[in-house]
Amino acid sequence: MDFTNKTAISTGAASGMGLLFSENFTALGGNVVMADVNEEVLFEKVAEINARGKGRAVGVVCDVRDYSQVCATRDKAVSEFGSIDIMANFAGGTATRMLKVRRSQYPEFPDVPIEVYDWGIDVNLKGPFYFGHAVMKQMREQNSGLIINIGSITGAEGDGYGMDYPTSKAGLMYGFTKSLAQCGAKYGVRAVCISPGPVLTRAAMANMKTLLGRAAEPQEIIDLILFIASDKGQFINGENIMIDGGRNAMQRRSE
Ligand SMILES: NC(=O)c1ccc[n+]([C@@H]2O[C@H](COP(=O)([O-])OP(=O)(O)OC[C@H]3O[C@@H](n4cnc5c(N)ncnc54)[C@H](O)[C@@H]3O)[C@@H](O)[C@H]2O)c1
Repeated sequence: MDFTNKTAISTGAASGMGLLFSENFTALGGNVVMADVNEEVLFEKVAEINARGKGRAVGVVCDVRDYSQVCATRDKAVSEFGSIDIMANFAGGTATRMLKVRRSQYPEFPDVPIEVYDWGIDVNLKGPFYFGHAVMKQMREQNSGLIINIGSITGAEGDGYGMDYPTSKAGLMYGFTKSLAQCGAKYGVRAVCISPGPVLTRAAMANMKTLLGRAAEPQEIIDLILFIASDKGQFINGENIMIDGGRNAMQRRSE
């Protein structure tokens, strides 16, 4: 694969899959705008990528919950590199993780302060929605582009404790991605949602069961995204793709 002269925006790019995507994309010749709220780590990672050569990375401190910061990130991508070919919405996570309590001790839904859920819904759903809105304007002008949303198996399963997360992810998987694809079609703009099962960006994800008996390596998720963005993946559009080791096919009967 070769992404020379292509530009991507990656959110949540200071860590995990957003970072790994940025590393891969630049190693394949592309340029990347890395957006994150974690300023210190973000610029460390940008410098590491640029020290390796090939494609270039630019860091932007951006809170995906803030539309003016989202537009500033889009504008930075266009002013630095001239186009936005791939928008990858990685920033996200479960709000209940912010409570730093063991899962077995999570308070029940009505007992969690509503601000915690505000965070979850804003980062996981509103952030990608804002970026979709902002970059569609540019992609419509250039008559091309790909928007990648990141869903989750939890969006299909639900979670009676961390409710913001499945609610937001389902919005990306089943409503927003298809809507973006419908809106973008006449401009050659595609939208695809990638929905992982457990991914080893955190060791604890190894505890989540799959049919294959293991969690994914982050690289397995990024390889799928790069394929969809490459010349070989151009007919994939408007779809939610589960990449979960078969967790979605597991027998759910409890006896
Ligand atoms: N790890 C998994 O098992 C798994 C499974 C399914 C889906 N996902 C999804 O994949 C995506 C990436 O997951 P990960 O494990 O690589 O994440 P991670 O926790 O390693 O990284 C998330 C990044 O998002 C940044 N971030 C948080 N709030 C932000 C905000 N308001 N604005 C901008 N950046 C912000 C953080 O600083 C961090 O760098 C997430 O959307 C997650 O929900 C992960």
